[in-house]
Amino acid sequence: MLKAIIFDLDGVICSTDEYHYLAWKKMADALGVPFDREINNRLRGVSRMDSLNIILEKYTGEPLSGERKQQLAAMKNDAYRALLANMGPKDLTPEVRATLDALRASGLKLAIGSSSKNTPYILERIGLKDYFDALSDGNNITRSKPDPEVFLKAAEYLGEEPEVCLVVEDAISGVQAGHAGGFRVACVGDAAKAKAGDFNMSAFSELPEIVKGLR
Ligand code: BG6
Ligand code: MG
Repeated sequence: MLKAIIFDLDGVICSTDEYHYLAWKKMADALGVPFDREINNRLRGVSRMDSLNIILEKYTGEPLSGERKQQLAAMKNDAYRALLANMGPKDLTPEVRATLDALRASGLKLAIGSSSKNTPYILERIGLKDYFDALSDGNNITRSKPDPEVFLKAAEYLGEEPEVCLVVEDAISGVQAGHAGGFRVACVGDAAKAKAGDFNMSAFSELPEIVKGLR
């Protein structure tokens, strides 16, 4: 019996990938470390500091203090927030909006499970500020995906067990997090192409059909 759906945010509800890329690129250029879209792809679902550490794998300069790393992460986040300010309700596609509304109308609880500390800001920008029944994000977790903490917290906030929740993800690290927490996972994007999920969708709008089979 399915009672709830927990959605990843970036790459599932809306697309922020390009903004993450541009903001990390700005920081990497300032530091003089090589950074490209291939490396950017490895950052999906990964927390800000873990992402920085992945980028620094290619860093060959003087050792960086913890404080300097915090500064670099803040530099990226400032650039990222400036780009997010361009987002608006236009960045929520009619397909995603209609699908969410159909799932809600079918009686399911809906939550967000995202590694991003910018989750509340992004939801506000795209017009979904008070839409979800629960928010679990980078602000309430200590361990990033592939650890299941973010999804387990979302289920807890909803008052449901993982067995009755479906996680929706686009990143392999997120699928691993869902499975580690005992959730079934439906995928879009990269994770769907890799057939990493229990359900691999070519479009978000396939969700209501998948859900029917689970109820
Ligand atoms: C995830 C993104 O949703 O959030 C990652 O897929 C990002 O790319 C992570 O690094 C953390 O985001 P933020 O907004 O807290 O820096
Ligand atoms: Mg994602």
